[in-house]
Amino acid sequence: MESASSPLQFFHDSWFLFLIIFVIMLLVLFILYFIKVRVQCTCEICQTYIGAHWTVQFPNLCDWYAHLLKNSPTRTIHIHVLNNTITANPQNVEYMLKTKFENFPKGKPFSAILGDFLGRGIFNVDGDLWKFQRKMASLELGRVSIRAYAFDVVNQEIDRRLIPLMESVHEVDLQDVFRRFSFDSICRFSFGVDPKCLELSLPLSKYAVCFDLASKLSAQRAMTVSPLVWKIKRLLNIGSEKELRQAIKTIDILAQELIKERRKFGFSNQKDLLSRFMSSATDSTYLRDIVISFLLAGRDTVASALTSFFFLVACHPEVEAAILKEAERVIGPNNGRLTSYEQLRELHYLHASIYESMRLYPPIQFDSKFCLEDDILPDGSFVKKGTRVTYHPYAMGRLEEIWGSDCLEFKPERWLRDGVFFSENPFKYPVFQAGIRVCLGKEMALVELKSVAISLLRRFHFELVEQTQHNNISTPKFSPGLTATFRDGLRVSVQARLVSS
Ligand code: HEM
Repeated sequence: MESASSPLQFFHDSWFLFLIIFVIMLLVLFILYFIKVRVQCTCEICQTYIGAHWTVQFPNLCDWYAHLLKNSPTRTIHIHVLNNTITANPQNVEYMLKTKFENFPKGKPFSAILGDFLGRGIFNVDGDLWKFQRKMASLELGRVSIRAYAFDVVNQEIDRRLIPLMESVHEVDLQDVFRRFSFDSICRFSFGVDPKCLELSLPLSKYAVCFDLASKLSAQRAMTVSPLVWKIKRLLNIGSEKELRQAIKTIDILAQELIKERRKFGFSNQKDLLSRFMSSATDSTYLRDIVISFLLAGRDTVASALTSFFFLVACHPEVEAAILKEAERVIGPNNGRLTSYEQLRELHYLHASIYESMRLYPPIQFDSKFCLEDDILPDGSFVKKGTRVTYHPYAMGRLEEIWGSDCLEFKPERWLRDGVFFSENPFKYPVFQAGIRVCLGKEMALVELKSVAISLLRRFHFELVEQTQHNNISTPKFSPGLTATFRDGLRVSVQARLVSS
């Protein structure tokens, strides 16, 4: 029987193999054709982009873009090979984020990239699905009780984990510590569960590892020359796409277990976001998607903001001294603890320092939308339907016409009038985005950033290790990804301060 069917089987297998190879070759040819069409542009900017020649002069892609935008008369450029219009013009930013909001959604290409990971969560959808979640989430996040809850979560993490950790080390990578801290905080805030990533003695939780992997691999999709590349890999379930699928599966299982548990033991008395959302939504997958969006939105952004803040403060002892002086006046001697959300609001200089550090180093350096119908931006730039349109907070923070001739300097004072914090037009400072889809976690993020900054600075002095002392702002190198991350981390030496009562 066996020998009789073998030639037939062989023929069948070979034919099948041939078919697969043929399909793959066809797809490769298609991709090559597609790339060739896109790389045809011979303009200087596109050639510099394709050949990565910008690396000769600039440490990061965002620095090259900032240079191009500064030198463009309209503060808008177009990268033909990417079909991407990039702007640092506040009027254009207001136009796309508010005036013509409906014509500049996130769009399908973005949703596809993050779709497997974020599903239909708020961060990844447009239209009615977005409107419903936005309404529900704004209602919950607007409550005074959630701010008090966020304050408690963050300050417990600081007292129980962050400070003991700092007391136990002489040297540390602050970026790594802040990533662990922000993951623990956002998980407690969103799910009411503490993954204990800050316990250095414990291995990183499986959840944190899978979450990191899923964010990294989803971001890598955006960097492939054509979406077809990752789509084919996903279809064949190979390489990074196979890894991504496995990581998402683990996240899904854990999220579903949590939701099931919360249903079983009741959620009406719980204060975390998941429990609050469970009163308005019942579908488990939908609930999982919403909360995962919050995790992604609120984790790396906070870690990134803290890293650049501590980097800048370490380079500017005069700012550190002014922060400490204000804290002494508002909170009392330096073993005095922060006691309330209200007390944080009185720290105007600290607030200004945090805004100033995010002006120079926004956690989200650029953010893109897709143009639905042909449009003309206020500066006269024509945008064709289907173009990716990007606003660039990193470049905007370096424009003289917005911030003055000292725009490259770290000067918290620029945000103060008679010692009181004075906010800028959000379209000139779209660090939290601006307009209709402005960040929903802004207040919570500020609570977290200020609490960590003041608690650590009052107890410890940090000095940069193995890095040149910076009189002016010397630019760190960033890793590619959704959120700004220092490529080499932020190694500092840690010295405990003398505590006075
Ligand atoms: C320094 C910290 C933060 C920065 C700089 C920041 C910045 C941003 C930006 C630029 C966006 C728009 C992204 C886009 O549409 O593509 C955004 C959206 C969002 N952020 Fe934040 N964020 C921060 C912290 C947080 C935190 C802690 C949370 C959660 C508690 C959060 C929740 C959200 C949500 C839910 C959205 C989506 C809003 C929507 O699409 O309607 N963010 N954030």
